[in-house]
Amino acid sequence: MSAERTPPGGAARTGSSGDRTPAARAADATPAPRTALAYLRRATEFLAARGVATARLDAEVLLASVLATDRIGVYLRFDQPLAPREVDAYRELVRRRAAGEPVAYLIGSREFWSIPLAVTPDVLIPRPETELLVERALAVVAVASTEPPAAPTPRRILDLGTGSGALAIALARELPHALVTAVDVSPRAAAIAAANARRAGVADRVEVVVGSWTAALDPATRFDVIVSNPPYVPTAALAALSAEVRAEPVVALDGGDDGLAAYRALVPGAAAHLAPGGWLLVEVGVGQAEAVAAIMAAAGLRGVAWHTDLAGVSRVVAATAAIAAVTEVAV
Ligand SMILES: C[S@@+](CC[C@H](N)C(=O)[O-])C[C@H]1O[C@@H](n2cnc3c(N)ncnc32)[C@H](O)[C@@H]1O
Repeated sequence: MSAERTPPGGAARTGSSGDRTPAARAADATPAPRTALAYLRRATEFLAARGVATARLDAEVLLASVLATDRIGVYLRFDQPLAPREVDAYRELVRRRAAGEPVAYLIGSREFWSIPLAVTPDVLIPRPETELLVERALAVVAVASTEPPAAPTPRRILDLGTGSGALAIALARELPHALVTAVDVSPRAAAIAAANARRAGVADRVEVVVGSWTAALDPATRFDVIVSNPPYVPTAALAALSAEVRAEPVVALDGGDDGLAAYRALVPGAAAHLAPGGWLLVEVGVGQAEAVAAIMAAAGLRGVAWHTDLAGVSRVVAATAAIAAVTEVAV
């Protein structure tokens, strides 16, 4: 009587091995290839065990990237095996994620304002809370547009510290007649912003400039709306940031001793480049709104106010340039 044996990963078979082909016997000895779902589960466990709070989501997004699909596409492939090169690529991405690299850098992309943007370690990964700055900028444009002639129809927009181009591109997409200037001190960030503007179909209306805040701009140029999300983390707090955030460029994070250095540097120049009735809107860190409002008021801006995000944090400080006074009215 022949022996009964159990193939790896399979159920026990009975019967004589003598009546089976060599190929069938070899198949018995080979473990069944693991499915995409099995790899996903293992990756999720691995990431969770290493403290990644969004382990399942990250594991899905990384697998979607390896399979050149989206998360729905991953679900549709759950039962299919992965090719060896897909397994290798997935293992490498999961290993790097577990070591603290942000998912956006690993897959090279992040959505902002529903626009896919390329991101590399040369640019800050755009944050959802920064969308409030887009909302507030659109709100002042809408108000200005309904109040002619006191406030001119905004056409010229400036984004200081554009990074991936997130704000500049979102505003260009929302305002089809706007001309946007996007400034960054980092030439590599500027190159990424320009590439993202091309990909988003707004390169003809987004000019990317390398320079420090307003220093490289024509002093005579005026803007109707200036936005900025500058670096605002106090230098001493940088070391305590998570590994993910520390993977981002220091120049995008470091706000100097009290986190406010960039506001002091950029607000006076921005105020000087505002058209009469134009608006400056900046994102601020937790607890910085009052101090930044004071910097704006000291620069001669009026109507300083701040807006809170969905978490109740004062996130955007806005102020306007005075409209030129009418000195004499002919009757
Ligand atoms: C917090 S990141 C914001 C990036 C992008 N606007 C966003 O919201 O995702 C700040 C950006 O300011 C840029 N930056 C820092 N110092 C600058 C300076 N002196 N002049 C212009 N840009 C500067 C950094 O390179 C970085 O891209």
